[in-house]
Amino acid sequence: MSEDAIRLRSVTRRYGSDGTSVTALDEVSIAFPRGTFTAVMGPSGSGKSTLLQCAAGLDRPTSGSVTVGGTELTGLSETGLTLLRRERIGFVFQAFNLLPSLTAEQNVALPLRLAGRRPRRDRVREVLRQVGLGDRIRHRPAEMSGGQQQRVALARALITRPEVLFCDEPTGALDSRSSREVLALLRGMVEREGHTVVMVSHDPVAASCADRVVFLVDGRVHGELAGASAEDIAARMATLEVVPC
Ligand SMILES: Nc1ncnc2c1ncn2[C@@H]1O[C@H](COP(=O)(O)OP(=O)(O)OP(=O)(O)O)[C@@H](O)[C@H]1O
Ligand SMILES: [Mg+2]
Repeated sequence: MSEDAIRLRSVTRRYGSDGTSVTALDEVSIAFPRGTFTAVMGPSGSGKSTLLQCAAGLDRPTSGSVTVGGTELTGLSETGLTLLRRERIGFVFQAFNLLPSLTAEQNVALPLRLAGRRPRRDRVREVLRQVGLGDRIRHRPAEMSGGQQQRVALARALITRPEVLFCDEPTGALDSRSSREVLALLRGMVEREGHTVVMVSHDPVAASCADRVVFLVDGRVHGELAGASAEDIAARMATLEVVPC
């Protein structure tokens, strides 16, 4: 089995046509090794979400190759891609994307139901316990705080035991305490369970929880830092975000 959970080779993603086309990703080559936690940072519009979506099979690159544990995504049909996402990939969105009419337990069980599998109640509860919500299983999203909703979204992403978990600004809408809880969970999943996590964040403190930080500028990889402090990451970001005034 490949050492890399995900590998992108020369991935370009262009939106629009000729006159108005935008190159969101420009020949990006990057690997995410198994059992590691990577943060992706860069100015707004630099291609972070596009990178995650291409790597997770939610979007198709214009050219280049994406492999998930050795499976080439670009050759898969829509159905093949849907199955791969369902079985092997977890995705957490900034806006949680929980269904308001379902309880925490029902939201977490949803990916299994969509896959035609019968969710085991004890497994659903175990995952909710893992994210610290064992006492909230019957609550609906509106009855929970932002941090709790984000943890339900994490539990929902984990229920299928994905090979890779992608999180697009998972702490963007949270206060600092809830952010710390979510980050500690992500860190713990990498350390204790060998998960592979790729997280987009604007926050140097959040990014410092990762093993390495990859910087994107104008759709290209612009260096990386390993084991860096929040201060080092903030200093690097400041050099990337300089705008002429
Ligand atoms: N569906 C789309 N159609 C056209 N252009 C798009 C589309 N999605 C993204 N883009 C463009 O691609 C570029 C990269 O967008 P992307 O969402 O990946 O940036 P980002 O780094 O995630 O930014 P942010 O930090 O603001 O979330 C931007 O210039 C954006 O306007
Ligand atoms: Mg984005």
